[in-house]
Amino acid sequence: MRIHPSGPLTGSLTLPGDKSISHRYAILASLATGSSTIHNYSTGADCHSTLNALRALGIQITEDALNVTINGQGLDGWRAPAADLDCGNSGSAIRMLAGPLAAQPFHSRLIGDESLSGRPMGRIIDPLRQMGAHIDARDDKFPPLTIQGGALHAIDYTLPVASAQVKTCVLFGGMYAEGQTVVREQVRSRDHTEIALREFGADIHTKSLVITLEGRPALEGRELLVPADLSSAAFFLVAALLVPGSELFLRGVGLNPTRSALLDFLLAAGASLEVVNLEQTNGEMIGDLHVRHAPIRGGVIEGETAAVLIDEIPVLCVLGAASEEGLTVRDAKELRVKETDRIETVLNNLRRMGIEAEETPDGMHIPGRQKFRAAHFDSFGDHRIAMAFAVAALHADGPSEIQGAEAASVSFPAFYDLLAQAHS
Ligand code: S3P
Repeated sequence: MRIHPSGPLTGSLTLPGDKSISHRYAILASLATGSSTIHNYSTGADCHSTLNALRALGIQITEDALNVTINGQGLDGWRAPAADLDCGNSGSAIRMLAGPLAAQPFHSRLIGDESLSGRPMGRIIDPLRQMGAHIDARDDKFPPLTIQGGALHAIDYTLPVASAQVKTCVLFGGMYAEGQTVVREQVRSRDHTEIALREFGADIHTKSLVITLEGRPALEGRELLVPADLSSAAFFLVAALLVPGSELFLRGVGLNPTRSALLDFLLAAGASLEVVNLEQTNGEMIGDLHVRHAPIRGGVIEGETAAVLIDEIPVLCVLGAASEEGLTVRDAKELRVKETDRIETVLNNLRRMGIEAEETPDGMHIPGRQKFRAAHFDSFGDHRIAMAFAVAALHADGPSEIQGAEAASVSFPAFYDLLAQAHS
């Protein structure tokens, strides 16, 4: 993919449905009684890995443009799959599906691509075993996961890592246990699971950082709308902030407070950014974003902010190099176990365009006011790296190339088309 430095980005864009919310709605809809229609379901390959796994578990699903209809069969309606369940590139799919699978009266095997096969699964294996699950993994840590389902019991679990995927796995497993499953968080991670469970009719309460779910909920099919994905919007927000003269409206974006630290960070750094038409749908906040080019001061991402901004850090590193004071990222060692080691893949690509940056074990430091040279980038097969450096290329001194640009389709197949649309 060749990307030319750009003139201003302008216009109004509607971005695809949120990846995190789509996975959760699909799984819960399959376990509800009756039909659910999910509007604006994510177009990303990841969320289709979840749909295909659910189909392999005997669930009828129809897709019509951006709407997905799922014929829920109740908590005990999944059927033994005839083959391995392929989660592709998706950490969310494998970790979330493992919860209910651990409670089924059949055997299943979850597999993934090369990247997913190297990602840590100990974080879900530990709590699932505490619930009584029989689950095996390569070296006891990595996919494939082999699950011999059976009865689970409720646990009171303190999350050792700030991970919404692990929280979801335990809560989804906890639906099958008698009594109350309790999950305690140290940092409030995205709470789409709690909101979605409540929407489908589960009895779930959150008090401070403690979540309590009553077992055996009677979930009921629903009509749901997935907001546009703020983590996808991040690429357009940064592009507009970088390129002089830009002004974009992004419509119907998910602004759940556990996801919107990006907006706080950008506003604190001097961004010209407004939220308009804020409303609540299916328990999730949705609004329109209005962003204009502005000089950015830069800043520090650390502590809890590093955890809640984790998916946006790659593109914020690009912005950091152009900012006035640069960007420091600390406490973000989770970046090392994402689709790629994102500390390494961000630094590798920054250096390809002549940007100086310093690596630390849990982050990096990127001085500001740096020139972006045109470069030959590599996505390393990671969707967020492909899109972050497509944005960097807009600000370069000549045309750049991205190898493996198609990785963007893991979360955002229309990314390059919408980028082109914002220039026309
Ligand atoms: C996600 C949680 C985060 C995030 C991922 C999606 C989710 O992962 O990075 O893109 O939908 O719950 P962790 O739970 O591993 O932090």
